[in-house]
Amino acid sequence: MSGMNDELLALSGLDDGWLDRRVFWDRDVYELELERIFARCWLFVAHESQLPKPGAFITTWMGEDNVLVVRRRDGSIGAYLNSCPHRGNRVCTAEVGTARGFVCNYHGWSFGLDGGLTGVHESAAFGREPGFDRSRLGLTPVAQLDTYKGLVFATFDPGAPPLRDYLGDFAFYLDVILDNDEGGTEFAGGSIKSVLGCNWKIAAENFAGDALHAGWTHASGAEAMLGRGVPDLGAEDAESYHVNANGHCWEFNLDGVGNAATLGDPRVMAYLRDHEKRFAERLGALRARMVGSISSVNVFPNFSFLPGQNTFRTWQPKGPHRTELHTWVLVNRNAPQDVKDAWRKGAMMTFSPSGVFEMDDGENWELATRSNAGVVTRKQRLYYGLGSGTAIEHPELPGNVHRGQINDANQRAFYRRWSQLLRARTWDEAAS
Ligand code: FES
Repeated sequence: MSGMNDELLALSGLDDGWLDRRVFWDRDVYELELERIFARCWLFVAHESQLPKPGAFITTWMGEDNVLVVRRRDGSIGAYLNSCPHRGNRVCTAEVGTARGFVCNYHGWSFGLDGGLTGVHESAAFGREPGFDRSRLGLTPVAQLDTYKGLVFATFDPGAPPLRDYLGDFAFYLDVILDNDEGGTEFAGGSIKSVLGCNWKIAAENFAGDALHAGWTHASGAEAMLGRGVPDLGAEDAESYHVNANGHCWEFNLDGVGNAATLGDPRVMAYLRDHEKRFAERLGALRARMVGSISSVNVFPNFSFLPGQNTFRTWQPKGPHRTELHTWVLVNRNAPQDVKDAWRKGAMMTFSPSGVFEMDDGENWELATRSNAGVVTRKQRLYYGLGSGTAIEHPELPGNVHRGQINDANQRAFYRRWSQLLRARTWDEAAS
């Protein structure tokens, strides 16, 4: 790491509430992120419902590494680098499907659902080579793969802590959306992909805790679609919080403002109301109030969702100034089909490439990134000091808890974790 980067990363710990702008622009920072965050952390790769039977697969990204995620014959899930060990060609060019195996387009090597090499074109020629060992020529698997209540995560780092430890206290909050019904969850329908001209962290930090922008950026969209603006989230007596654990962040409001993000669709609202008692039985009274509330979440580093709205998304890095956005809609598997459809329609109208709120955000994030092309602008620092005195102990909420939704506490937690991981050479160093 260069001396410049040591200084830069030190400046980005946010202890004084200021962030160095170079973290959104410099190529060497980005390359370090790929090594020490995306090749090290547990990353969301699929929902189990996307892999319903043996042979079902999807292709996705872990950093800039393309991976093939597949349901194997024994029902387990595997994930492999989607690159042929012969000359490196991408083996599976489809984004989703079902297959008995995978054949490389270049020279015809074939691979099983377990990633093993099952056949080669001109096998007699290869068979004469003493050093040709099929068992060493399968697709490279990820180091670890695990699931948490339907979500599939993988890491390239064999030294990464177990997924449950990586999530830590944050699992308590994840259960609000993943475990409020005995039937579990599923992704409804397909996915939408789009490209933003922004640094991936600007999107991730927005979902980590930027309730501040909602009442301003989205005011006109809310007015046009709902006939009223975004509720005042900053009232002094509001029962709202920023909570974070291990860099994972959730901000939420318990004042019963409801499912505004699906535009208050009556079918969704009726479903939430009818299930209040069941939510409370499974989650307890406090977490039951979080179901469908106005809130947003980022699971470190780049997996975000909006509870209530139920849009789930990954911010895939494609260079320091470019992000590929993948989105899905999560629903309770046992919900009636018309409720699932309403949830999906709400997401399409609000947080899809043609949705009003997504467009509002994208323009801001692109300009916030692009501003840093200026060599003078890039030397300025950014203010992240809001809510500096809001930390509290809460009798029911684990992790780091801050009072108030209009706050930068979660963004500071996000960048502290980011800085900590970039500076650490090992997980042990990151934990200390
Ligand atoms: Fe795949 Fe040659 S690159 S078979």
